[in-house]
Amino acid sequence: MNIAVLVSGGGTNLQAIIDRIEDGSLSDVYISVVISSSSDAYAIERAQKHGISVVSIVKKNFSTANDFDRAIMDTLAKYGTEFIVLAGYLSLLGHCVVEQYKNRIINIHPSLIPSFCGAGMYGIRPHEAALQRGVKVSGATVHIVDSAYDEGPIILQKAIDIAPNDTPQTLQKRIMNECEQVILPKAIQLFAHNRIKVDGRVARIIDV
Ligand code: GRF
Repeated sequence: MNIAVLVSGGGTNLQAIIDRIEDGSLSDVYISVVISSSSDAYAIERAQKHGISVVSIVKKNFSTANDFDRAIMDTLAKYGTEFIVLAGYLSLLGHCVVEQYKNRIINIHPSLIPSFCGAGMYGIRPHEAALQRGVKVSGATVHIVDSAYDEGPIILQKAIDIAPNDTPQTLQKRIMNECEQVILPKAIQLFAHNRIKVDGRVARIIDV
C-alpha cells in the first residue's frame, strides 16, 4: 500500500513507521512521500535520511485555502498515494482531500478520544488537560479523519496509567513512546491488509 505521511514537527511517529517497515514488522506498506506543513520540521531530516521524497507545502505561501488544498491533492496524485497518515500534522485537511480519500486517512491523537480532543487540543495541551482533570489513565488514539478535528471512527487506542508525579512533559513522552509509536504502525498494517470495516461512526477490525 502506497502511503503519504503528513508531518509538521519532530517526526517521532514518522520515525516509528520507517523503523517498523525496515525491521519487517510493518509489511506491504511503502512511504512514497512525506508532506510537511513546515519547511524546517525535523521530520524532514528523518525522511531524507531514509531516502524518502519530501515536499513542503506551507499554508501561508498560498493566497487561498483552495490553492493550498490543490497543491496537496496534486502532490498526493503525483506520488500515487493510496492512503494518508497524519503524523503530528497540524493543519486541517481540506474537504476535497477528505472526500477524495474517504476512510483512507488516519490521524494519531495523544489522548483517549473523546477525552481531551478537538480544535486547539494538540501538542502538550491534551496532557495538561488530563492532569488538570485528574484522570488516572490516558493514552493515544488512531482514528479515521473526516472534516472535523478528531471526530472520525476510532481504529485503535492504547492506555497507560498516569503516575502521581507525572508532569505534562513526562506524560507526553511516555504516551509517545509507549502508545503512539505502537498503535500507529499497527493501524497502518490493518488497513494495508484490508482488515478495517467502517459502519457509520464505528470502525471494526475484521479477520480476512
Ligand atoms: C505527537 O504527540 C502526536 O500525537 C501529535 O503530534 C505530536 C508530535 O508528533 N499528533 P511527531 O513527533 O511530530 O510525530
